[in-house]
Amino acid sequence: MEKKFSEQFSSLHELFKAYRKSERCLAAFNVNDNYDLKAVVEAANEMNTHVMVMTYPPVADLITPQVFAKMVEGMRLNAHNKVFLHLDHSTSVDQCKAAIDAGYDSVMIDGSQQPLEENIKMTKEVVEYAKSANVVVEAEIGKILGRGVEVKSDDDFLASVADVTQLYKEANPDIVAVGIGTAHGFTPQEPKIHFGRLGEIADAIPAPLVLHGGTGIPDKDIQKSISMGMSKINIGTIVHTTYMQEALKRMNEAGENAYPPFIMNEVVPLIKDVVVDRLKAVNFEYELSV
Ligand code: 13P
Repeated sequence: MEKKFSEQFSSLHELFKAYRKSERCLAAFNVNDNYDLKAVVEAANEMNTHVMVMTYPPVADLITPQVFAKMVEGMRLNAHNKVFLHLDHSTSVDQCKAAIDAGYDSVMIDGSQQPLEENIKMTKEVVEYAKSANVVVEAEIGKILGRGVEVKSDDDFLASVADVTQLYKEANPDIVAVGIGTAHGFTPQEPKIHFGRLGEIADAIPAPLVLHGGTGIPDKDIQKSISMGMSKINIGTIVHTTYMQEALKRMNEAGENAYPPFIMNEVVPLIKDVVVDRLKAVNFEYELSV
């Protein structure tokens, strides 16, 4: 096995910086409960890689950041490498603070729907709060398409280099999600990634960048993005749709005899297979090593 995390990096901040320099990427999966969390940890063990799990705000609201952090702490007992916990797409400064207090490793403050000044103000506040806890802060600029995100003109979603630079300089987030044409969820057509803009942004700021909308991005585009500065990729929809559809199928078959552990015993390995498949796409040059 490769060196342990602590022998390679002093913190998650350092991991991201090193990954940006060496054109590597941390795969981050949206999870919802102990079952898909277990599937992600087992997949990361099989691939011998560090991994990140992320809770969307409704998951954090339902389960609470405290309980989810404890669940991840418990699941780490079975992990061979690092399992980082992140709050994804929170539009609330207070929710970010609560996640930091609960022990999350990383939080995203998503001010992308706000005017730039407001986005900078929100990001700054979370960055300040996160500092003493040594928690990574992700900001967003531009828009990730899909799921009701409103786009006012053709390329309104595209992160502008000037805005990215201003946000980075003034708010100083650790990692930055940039709108470059990807979308959340399954899309009717392949997303058209604006690699030209990605290149300009990567030249303008040294921060590790984050690729959102990981479901449905062709492997070759994922890999090209990584070589251009994407150091974290978010993958969600393929995980929860596999979970829900496979569980539903089995619940329908079992009818009134449906019993959670029997159903989930069959569903967890299927979620794991999907996660392994995506880890292979992301860690394409680093299979079987952290
Ligand atoms: P997908 O649901 O398209 O995989 O995107 C996930 C994501 O970007 C979460 O932030």
